[in-house]
Amino acid sequence: MSELPTINLERLMARVTEMSKIGALPGGGVCRLALTDEDKVSRDLLKSWMNDLGLDQRTDSIGNMFGRRRGQTAQAPVCIGSHLDTVGTGGCYDGSLGVLAALEVIERIDELGIETTIPIELINFTNEEGVRFTPDMMGSHVAAGGMSLEEVLKIKSVDGSVVLGDELQRIGYHGDVEPASLRASAFIELHIEQGPVLEQEEVQIACVEKVQGISWTEFVIEGQANHAGTTPMHLRKDAALVASNITNFVRTLTDDIPGQVGTIGLWEQSPNLINVVAERVRFTVDLRNTNNANLAEAESRMQAYAAEAAEKEGVVLNSNKLVRFDPVDFDDKMISLATECSNRLGYTNKRMPSGAGHDAQMMAAICPTTMVFIPSKDGISHNVHEYSSPEQIEAGANVLLNMVLELAK
Ligand code: GLV
Ligand code: MN
Ligand code: MN
Repeated sequence: MSELPTINLERLMARVTEMSKIGALPGGGVCRLALTDEDKVSRDLLKSWMNDLGLDQRTDSIGNMFGRRRGQTAQAPVCIGSHLDTVGTGGCYDGSLGVLAALEVIERIDELGIETTIPIELINFTNEEGVRFTPDMMGSHVAAGGMSLEEVLKIKSVDGSVVLGDELQRIGYHGDVEPASLRASAFIELHIEQGPVLEQEEVQIACVEKVQGISWTEFVIEGQANHAGTTPMHLRKDAALVASNITNFVRTLTDDIPGQVGTIGLWEQSPNLINVVAERVRFTVDLRNTNNANLAEAESRMQAYAAEAAEKEGVVLNSNKLVRFDPVDFDDKMISLATECSNRLGYTNKRMPSGAGHDAQMMAAICPTTMVFIPSKDGISHNVHEYSSPEQIEAGANVLLNMVLELAK
């Protein structure tokens, strides 16, 4: 067993359990959509824990929360964290693990009586998931200067019922710090892999080298509602047919283009009645690829196909680009540090890309950044059954602790 500092697993797991009660779903998992009451309660809990640790706290105007452990100098801090918001059918680890492990790392450094030269700062980013308000990675994107605060505060929720700035005020997390004033000497995000690779290869830690590019498109197809029995097939303007054709085409693209993945996540059809030709279908396509040229090819082939399919059926096609993030490479020295710390701690490890989007990809624009992944059981996430064992969590948090000490000492 190594002599290296390690975290207190029991304390970390107690916090994971406590946090999982907020927005808990009946069969397991959580729903803590960004800027809802549940998000507020989770933030309040984090705030109370940061108070207990005596961290210097602040909240910026997009609601990102910060808790700083002072260093001997006032240099830009080593930042660690993730997000507390979840998708509607989320698990107990996506996001919150990175925040709670950051808290544990800070508490452990306190206990060890270590004074660091560089401050250490915990961050909880606003709206990483992007399911209630798009785009995703919103708080980190604004903090990294990728989007203006004014623009973001006006964004309406996906269901059109509320405005982001109002919700931020309502839950009491519209802080007064300018988001783009964020300074960091490094950023590390501990996260579950959310895919099957580590488990299948029986590797304990991934040192994440890049995040794939993400493209989100909303299509609204407008046809004509008509009688299912009397309307001859050649006279129909069937929105459902065109939407399904595009859906099938997306799957074809993923067969044709190397590394391409594609998902139809949201689907709404009206009037949605058994004997009526569909008048309107609204659906979304999520395309991702680690290679930007390949991603661009997928986007343009999909658009060309969609236009052709719509014209053939005589329906109106509206397409709206919701998100477009290029692939991001993480910092080589940071990735090597993750590898070194994993090796010193005796954990098997590998370099790999991230399939999911993360706040770290935004932070990479302002400071040396990487991520540490631990295995996800059966590769499942964005699912209430998402699971990583306490032992896997301990390994990830220990790597985080040792990286932070190395960077901040
Ligand atoms: C965020 O979790 C994403 O990858 O969509
Ligand atoms: Mn996440
Ligand atoms: Mn997620």
